[in-house]
Amino acid sequence: MSADTPINPLANKHQAWSALFSEPMSELVQRYTASVGFDKRLARADIQGSLAHAQMLAAQGVIGERDLADIERGMAQIRAEIETGHFVWKLELEDVHLNIEARLTELVGDAGKRLHTGRSRNDQVATDIRLWLRGEIDRIAALLTAMQRALVELAAQHTETVMPGFTHLQVAQPVSFAHHLLAYVEMFARDAERLADVRRRVNRLPLGAAALAGTSYPLDRRKVAELLGFEGLCENSLDAVSDRDFAIEFAAFASLVMVHVSRLAEEIVLWMNQNFGFIDLADRYCTGSSIMPQKRNPDVAELARGKSGRVVGHLMALITLMKGQPLTYNKDNQEDKEPLFDTVDTVADTLRIMAEMAAGIVVKPEAMERAARRGYATATDLADYLAKKGVPFRDAHEVVAHAVKVAMQRGLDLAELPLPELQAFHPQVGADVHEALTLRGSMAARAVVGGTAPAQVQLQIERHRARLG
Ligand code: ARG
Repeated sequence: MSADTPINPLANKHQAWSALFSEPMSELVQRYTASVGFDKRLARADIQGSLAHAQMLAAQGVIGERDLADIERGMAQIRAEIETGHFVWKLELEDVHLNIEARLTELVGDAGKRLHTGRSRNDQVATDIRLWLRGEIDRIAALLTAMQRALVELAAQHTETVMPGFTHLQVAQPVSFAHHLLAYVEMFARDAERLADVRRRVNRLPLGAAALAGTSYPLDRRKVAELLGFEGLCENSLDAVSDRDFAIEFAAFASLVMVHVSRLAEEIVLWMNQNFGFIDLADRYCTGSSIMPQKRNPDVAELARGKSGRVVGHLMALITLMKGQPLTYNKDNQEDKEPLFDTVDTVADTLRIMAEMAAGIVVKPEAMERAARRGYATATDLADYLAKKGVPFRDAHEVVAHAVKVAMQRGLDLAELPLPELQAFHPQVGADVHEALTLRGSMAARAVVGGTAPAQVQLQIERHRARLG
């Protein structure tokens, strides 16, 4: 190498740490420590962060305007190379950050080597993950809205469709299918609130923390935050480079969404079972069996249920990763990416497919209603009927338990017992009793806010529509 050959310190990574190293990294260590195989996913965010940093460095006079122009030109080319698949990722350059910086220096020379002034990969990577995650949060928020809309619109067609409501998976009281669906809308609405809250804490800028202690260059952190759309700064440099609680929070949010999805998925599987027969799914969401010609299996719902396990697993991975880490940055944190990426992918795909599938559910109202007629779903209504006529509720409860026992022995529903027989259970039973015992009478009576009465459910549907826009 002649004296005027420009040195690219990143041409060979073991030289990146300086002349201190006397031997190259072993091939195994290189493979073990490299993250470029997965963190190249952060490339767009990495370039965006670098451009904001460079712009600020130039405005502060730390680098020249020419340097900034060179960096911008080089980054534009790198972005194009990545997007067209022409960028050559090198394992020996360890991660996305060093790969991009090395290529920049190759393209624009010294300006590329000035980019890292006042910055460390520690605040760089924390910034990249936050930027990337913020974008994904916005995408997932939109999917959550779509999911809720699908359920609300399906519910709007079924405020009068009666099904058995269950406790302990035993028939309890009649509810409308709409009311049942809106329970999931509530769950997903809370998930959306949680996500918005997580976003506020993700959306803070670590850059300026440098390796850990801050930097001696006159950086304008607020300007960088503004350029990148961050709502605030990480206010302690040690914390900025080391904590990943924002990723853990996101994984906790994601775990809850998946738990909610898995509950809905489980119900879809049950409802499609021949013994329920409450719904059918479009063929495109089902698979057949290679041996049993009659089978149509709800694989999508089962997989959605199954995938909740892996997202909860990622939460465990991330939270365990953080535990016991001394301040500040430790290489452990490189392990945050794969769980986080897979969490985002799994939640996004699952919400998309479940919303689509739910929107296409074929409801079988007769089967739901038939099921609601079995299991004495209106027994509470008979007790309430007596209580409203002055019988203490506990006594009414006993009387009705006895009536149910008799009806069971005769293989009849309460509503099928003739009036004189019902009157034999209690003198307060009048001619109006049958009205209280019908499924629709039972539903209509539950007109408290949040109850299953069609008028109440209609109000909820309108509230959700207004909220979801
Ligand atoms: N690839 C690294 C990570 O994901 C980037 C930060 C490396 N910093 C360091 N001091 N080795 O965490």
